[in-house]
Amino acid sequence: MKDSKDLALDKKNIDIILVLDFGSQYTQLIARRVRELDVFSEILPWDISTEKIRNLNPNGIILSGGPDSVTSANTPRIPEVIFELDIPILGICYGMQTLAEQFGGQVTASSSKEFGHATINLEKTSVLFDGFSSGSSIDVWMSHGDQVSTLPDEFNLVASTSSAPIAAMEHVERPIFALQFHPEVTHTKQGNTVIENFVLKVCNCNPAWKMDNLIEQRILDVKQMVGNQKVLLGLSGGVDSSVTAMLLDRAIGKNLICIFVDNGLLRKNEAEDVERLFKDTMDLNLLVIDAKKIFHRHLKGISDPEMKRKIIGRTFIDVFDNEAEKLKDEINFLAQGTIYPDVIESSESESKEARVIKSHHNVGGLPDDMNMDLVEPLRDLFKDEVRKMGAELGLPIEMLNRHPFPGPGLGVRILGEITPEKVKILQEADAIFIAELIKANLYDQVSQAFCVFLPVKSVGVVGDERRYADVIAIRAVETVDFMTAAWAKLPYEFLAHVSNRIVNEIEDVSRVVYDISSKPPATIEWE
Ligand code: XMP
Repeated sequence: MKDSKDLALDKKNIDIILVLDFGSQYTQLIARRVRELDVFSEILPWDISTEKIRNLNPNGIILSGGPDSVTSANTPRIPEVIFELDIPILGICYGMQTLAEQFGGQVTASSSKEFGHATINLEKTSVLFDGFSSGSSIDVWMSHGDQVSTLPDEFNLVASTSSAPIAAMEHVERPIFALQFHPEVTHTKQGNTVIENFVLKVCNCNPAWKMDNLIEQRILDVKQMVGNQKVLLGLSGGVDSSVTAMLLDRAIGKNLICIFVDNGLLRKNEAEDVERLFKDTMDLNLLVIDAKKIFHRHLKGISDPEMKRKIIGRTFIDVFDNEAEKLKDEINFLAQGTIYPDVIESSESESKEARVIKSHHNVGGLPDDMNMDLVEPLRDLFKDEVRKMGAELGLPIEMLNRHPFPGPGLGVRILGEITPEKVKILQEADAIFIAELIKANLYDQVSQAFCVFLPVKSVGVVGDERRYADVIAIRAVETVDFMTAAWAKLPYEFLAHVSNRIVNEIEDVSRVVYDISSKPPATIEWE
């Protein structure tokens, strides 16, 4: 497999804010806030090479927060090249602390760690706080142990809180600013105004990163890259591959060949729905491969969760490769719905362990010996931008707002051995639960909801007869980033109704239980 060609806009013609990542959980949020202002932003690790920073030629740099302490040795520092570039800089939290230290100020571990709401008082006018009246107080979100205790020589104090006397500072003559609080999180009221002031007023960025420009530009880019040649795309029915399909369809029409693999572990009617939408309604060149039997044969007798995952991933590659092989002579490119969070580089110093955890959700891989170039037109987009693009391209709203579904599908929701019969029972139960959520206007209020087939039987009574039958668990969670999640407090009446429908309508189910575990320590899926 050859390397991906970067299908992004010609970055020389657009303004860019570089977000230098020091490991904060909010780094992606900073980049998204910038893009909400119609300005492109890119995240790079703090220890990125000088050459890469120079090549990117950003209009401004935001330094993220991070988990380290500048009071310890061998913790991240801002690369000196950034100061030589003489472009605007905004340091946030850890970014502020290392900035202060590198300019000769002092950072100390504060006696009281501050996590949560705080009020800052503006001590001095600053372009960063344009729109706020001087002397005003602003509700902000703090999350820090260390703080700047002595201002660096060339800096003025801009704002303070009762526990952090230096909560915002700015350089006396250069466009360098720093904030102890997090303007990127919604808990900071008007945090967007602060970011907007930096991006539009300090960095003078031109807000030209707009969805309609972007679609047109991407279509041109794809046409230019692909010409009259053919592109193969694995369609999963998820948002990313669906938007990729629609974009490529606009660019190259029938030269796009989509393959959808029915692995027998999909939701009820999913294969039919995908076929109806993309083939019948949108007239895409779509091959639906019925591989149910192959998957079930490979999974027979297997109950170990990791083995199941591996087998599903490997079988997918086999089936996909087999189909691709048949088309080999006509195909020159392989398209993928890779999105920005999949490719954001992590710091060199980040542990191998963390990287393994990041990659564990990627099912499958790519055939190594296929001589195809990769087309990844969403590679630099966040999920919300992909959804916006999908909406503009006419992807139905139900598909755009669908909860995430794992690559191994119902395979990780059937505990123990997977059989076609269990798949059928789970599909029916899940369809009832989801339909009821939609009917009760609860679907969009939870982030992910599904049923799980448990590997136990429980007794039930039907008429006068006792019978042992299957148990279905219902799971619904609320989350922002899927790293942590709270179980959804669905109304009892609603749960009772769903439970009634499942046990009454599915003969093989005698009992329904509701999962009340949050993540951590539980995970969202059961396997
Ligand atoms: P967990 O269970 O780790 O799930 O809390 C977090 C999110 O990831 C999804 N998930 C997967 N997605 N392949 C995927 O594409 C997988 O193997 C996989 N496992 C979990 C899960 O549905 C949730 O949204």
